Amino acid sequence: MINAKNTQAREAFVDVADVQVGSRVLDLGWEGDCLECLQKTGARVTFVGEDIRAVQKAEALLVNGVLSAMPAQVITDARVVFYKPAQRSAKGQVFEWIDQGFRALEMGGALYLAGQRNRGIRSYAAYLQAVFGNSKRAGRVGRVEMYSAKKEQDDPCQAPVDNRMTFELRDLPGSPYSIETRAGVFSRDGLDDGTRLLIDSMEVRPTDQVLDWGCGWGALGMVAARISAKGSATLVDSNIRAVSCAKGNLRRNRICNAVVHVGDARVFDRREKFDLIVSNPPFHDGNAAAHPLIEGAFRALRPGGRLMLVVMRPEAYLKHIRRVFGKGRGNIMAQKDGYVVLQAHIGN
Ligand SMILES: C[S@@+](CC[C@H](N)C(=O)[O-])C[C@H]1O[C@@H](n2cnc3c(N)ncnc32)[C@H](O)[C@@H]1O
Repeated sequence: MINAKNTQAREAFVDVADVQVGSRVLDLGWEGDCLECLQKTGARVTFVGEDIRAVQKAEALLVNGVLSAMPAQVITDARVVFYKPAQRSAKGQVFEWIDQGFRALEMGGALYLAGQRNRGIRSYAAYLQAVFGNSKRAGRVGRVEMYSAKKEQDDPCQAPVDNRMTFELRDLPGSPYSIETRAGVFSRDGLDDGTRLLIDSMEVRPTDQVLDWGCGWGALGMVAARISAKGSATLVDSNIRAVSCAKGNLRRNRICNAVVHVGDARVFDRREKFDLIVSNPPFHDGNAAAHPLIEGAFRALRPGGRLMLVVMRPEAYLKHIRRVFGKGRGNIMAQKDGYVVLQAHIGN
C-alpha cells in the first residue's frame, strides 16, 4: 500500500540522488514503485525486476523494463542505482542485488539504498559498506532510512556472496533428485512440508501432461515429469530466479520431458491443455492468485482432468473451486500438520 509517508520518502530518495536529465538510472525497485518519481527527472531509466508482473507494471508506465535476476547483465554504465528491497526479500537475495548494483554502476556512480529498521535496513547498510567501503547515511523520512555509496574502484571491497545451496532428495517417487537453489526462492533449503504432502497425494499417470503452476525450484514438476514417463510436465513461475533454478534442476537431473516458462495467469491463455494441474500457491497473495489459478485451471484441463492444490486454510479455496468446477467436484484428499490437499475434477 502506498501511503503519504512512503510517497514522501520516495521523492526524498530521488531528490537526494540529484538525478540529472539524460543520466542512466537503474531502478531495482521501491517495492516496485519508484518509477513515476524517476520519470519526472528526465533520466534514462531502466527497471530490472525478477517478477514478470513488476516488469509489466514498469512497461505500462512506458519505462524500459527488463526481467532478470542479474541486473549487472543488463546494465554496466548506470550513474545511479536505486534499491529499496521488498518487504519479503530474503537477506541473501538483497546482498546479491547490492553486489549486482556495484557491478551495474559506472565509475563514480552511486547506489542509493532505502528501507526501514524493522525490515533489515541496518544489516543491508552494513553490507553496502562492506562492498563499497564508503557508505554513508543519506537521509531519513519517517521510518525510512536512506544510505548511499559511491563506486570508487573497479572491484568491490569483498567478494560477492554465493547464495547457491545444494541437496539431495532420495525419498520421493522417481528419486534420487539433485537440487540446487538460491536465496530468494521458496523453501530453498529443502522440500516444503506442504509440497511433500501434495507429492504423496499426487496420482500421475504415465501419459499425463502436467502443469506445475508456481513451480519455485521445480519439486512438483520434476516428480510429475519422472512419473509421467510418456507424458510431459510444464513448469511455470512468475519469478525469473525461480525459473532459472527450476531449469537448472531439470538439467542436473536429466529430465527431458519437461519445460519451464516465466508466466502467470497468461499460461492459461495458451491453447495447451493438461490432464493434471498441481500447485502449492503463493498464500501471501490470497485470492489474487488463487482465483485466477482455479478459473484458469478449469479452462485448461482436458475432460477428466484434475486440479490439485496444497493450502493451509482450505475453506475459501474449496468454496471457489465448487463455484467454478461445480458443486460435487471439489474435495479434500489429504491433511497433515496443518496442510490440506484439495482436488477438483472436470467430468469426462
Ligand atoms: C509457495 S511457492 C511454491 C513453490 C514450489 N511449487 C514448491 O512447492 O516448492 C509459490 C510460487 O508461486 C510463484 N508465484 C507467485 N505468484 C505467481 C503467479 N501469479 N504466477 C505464477 N507463479 C506465481 C512464486 O514465485 C513461488 O515460486
